[in-house]
Amino acid sequence: MNRLAYTPTDKAPVPDLGTARIPVDRYTDPAYMALEDEKIWSKTWLLAGACCDVEKPGDYFVFEIMRESILVTHADDGQLYAFYNVCQHRGNRLRGQGCGFSERLACAFHGWEWRLDGSLHHVPEAHDFPQGTPAEELALPQLRCQVWGGFVWVSMDPDIESLEEYLGVIPDHLAPYEFEKHVLVADETIEWNCNWKTSVDIFSETYHVRGVHPESEFIADDVNVQMDVYGPHSRFIAPMYIPSPRKIGPDKALNEIMVDYLKSEGFPVEDFTGDVTTLRSAVASHKRSMTNDNGLDFSKLTDDQLTADYHYNIFPNVTFNLFGEQMWMFRHRPHPTDPNKMYFDRMIFNRVPEGEVSAEAKAGAVDLFVELGEGQVEGRPEHDFYRYGEKSSGLLLDQDASCLAGVQQGLHSRGTKGFWISRHEIRIRNFHHWWEKYVSG
Ligand code: FES
Ligand SMILES: [Fe+2]
Repeated sequence: MNRLAYTPTDKAPVPDLGTARIPVDRYTDPAYMALEDEKIWSKTWLLAGACCDVEKPGDYFVFEIMRESILVTHADDGQLYAFYNVCQHRGNRLRGQGCGFSERLACAFHGWEWRLDGSLHHVPEAHDFPQGTPAEELALPQLRCQVWGGFVWVSMDPDIESLEEYLGVIPDHLAPYEFEKHVLVADETIEWNCNWKTSVDIFSETYHVRGVHPESEFIADDVNVQMDVYGPHSRFIAPMYIPSPRKIGPDKALNEIMVDYLKSEGFPVEDFTGDVTTLRSAVASHKRSMTNDNGLDFSKLTDDQLTADYHYNIFPNVTFNLFGEQMWMFRHRPHPTDPNKMYFDRMIFNRVPEGEVSAEAKAGAVDLFVELGEGQVEGRPEHDFYRYGEKSSGLLLDQDASCLAGVQQGLHSRGTKGFWISRHEIRIRNFHHWWEKYVSG
């Protein structure tokens, strides 16, 4: 398929979604969790994991969503498959969380075995089953499974439209980022004290920057942010390397936080003679001038893309933050039983020179936002799980998580009458519009 040469930046038409308050019991009432399970998690395409975890035959990973555990495999026929991760004998989980390699899927309970394409391979004492062990009946139950953007997507709905149709404009918009030229450098899950939708919401707007991320006001513009909605999905474009209009003085000089940030990125700030109005183009030129040394290919990205956060939400629970050198994938996963908790999954990918996915390339890749821990460049980074407060997730995420814990408490109050939403927060209104559509069936 021919993709667009560049990511379009035209403003999408703004749908009229009214101005009513958005009800909040959907964030706190367990009854809505069951409804979401039935109407959203089992009726949409879900990002299950990264293709790099199922690169070769024998590779598999497990993706958990609500009560389901889903096993994604790379079989000997070269195909990727997704199965419910349950033994067909008496229901044991076949594999625990995480990724691995295995030639067969053997159950640890009584030793039944499947091939990686889900076909039944072996039943111990098969002669003792008077009803037989028919291979077709006892194959692993399969889910829809497709690949896009370097990720494996699955759906529990056998009748769902193709992933391509579901994603709408998104693959066209993001093709210039060339996800295939990125490698996974960090992977973690943090249990947060809030409902998964509060997390989708907070990453849909920059209105909260002034309250929650006071440092960011000095390096990114939280006001002149373009908001676009595309059906259930959405985007914002948030300029970086220019402060919030509230933080630009009459002389338009660079502030100290910006100067430190530029230094941390290796921008030769001492040679820069411009001001905040010319900084973004200077940073873009600098990034392009470095490509001979670092081998990174930015040819399909505009200067604006090299100096902004192109931020896409894919319904229901995926956020991409795209910076050119680096891509963050956030997945906002529900807790299976508690509406006041969620799992925040973060995968970070660095752009590397074409064809280079070696440890050396990962080590040498531009590393703007994340300091790799020791040992993380050797092959796949280890998946890290922790709860909010047990350790830092970096300043920005700590600030968001701390805020959301308070929001979740407030949503239980008799005094909370529903969200009062601004134009800037159109992505939140749009998300809820589609959430309601799905939930009402
Ligand atoms: S439950 Fe898996 S072999 Fe018995
Ligand atoms: Fe935030």
